[in-house]
Amino acid sequence: MSNTKQLTLNINGQDEKMNVPSHRTLLEALRESGHIEVKCGCEKGDCGACAVLVDDVAVDSCLTLAWASEGKAITTVTGLGNVDEPHPLQTAFKDLGASQCGYCTPGMIIASKGLLNENPDPTDDEIRVGLSGNLCRCTGYAKILDAVGQAAEVMRREGEPS
Ligand code: FES
Ligand code: FES
Repeated sequence: MSNTKQLTLNINGQDEKMNVPSHRTLLEALRESGHIEVKCGCEKGDCGACAVLVDDVAVDSCLTLAWASEGKAITTVTGLGNVDEPHPLQTAFKDLGASQCGYCTPGMIIASKGLLNENPDPTDDEIRVGLSGNLCRCTGYAKILDAVGQAAEVMRREGEPS
């Protein structure tokens, strides 16, 4: 017998109601409710493509149960900024060519935001460690590391969009 309940998840500042079986991961619940900006890669915690912020901490949504996320603030990459008002991380990834196919980019940006929430002025090595759970097949990583460093500098100087 399926064990389903109605959840209210706070996603990018909006409460969204959904019926979710107990075994659904947060990744599945987000994508099934239209948040396809959250990418599905390995579904076992190896690639970081599915990263979202939960109460400002980056987590792999494929390893998080949807039911455990009720009452918390969930932020996806589209909750950080948009085309008209991009977040400094989004701007830096675009300007420095840190995204090629783009599949890893939402998770990379979320992991970067989680890192900068804890450490606004990271060294290059700290950025490497902070992004060590995120895989990219395309870029060779150097431009991603540069983009995070540039965004961190902008965020320290100018803050972030509210
Ligand atoms: S899909 Fe979650 S870590 Fe790969
Ligand atoms: S840009 Fe293609 S996987 Fe990273």
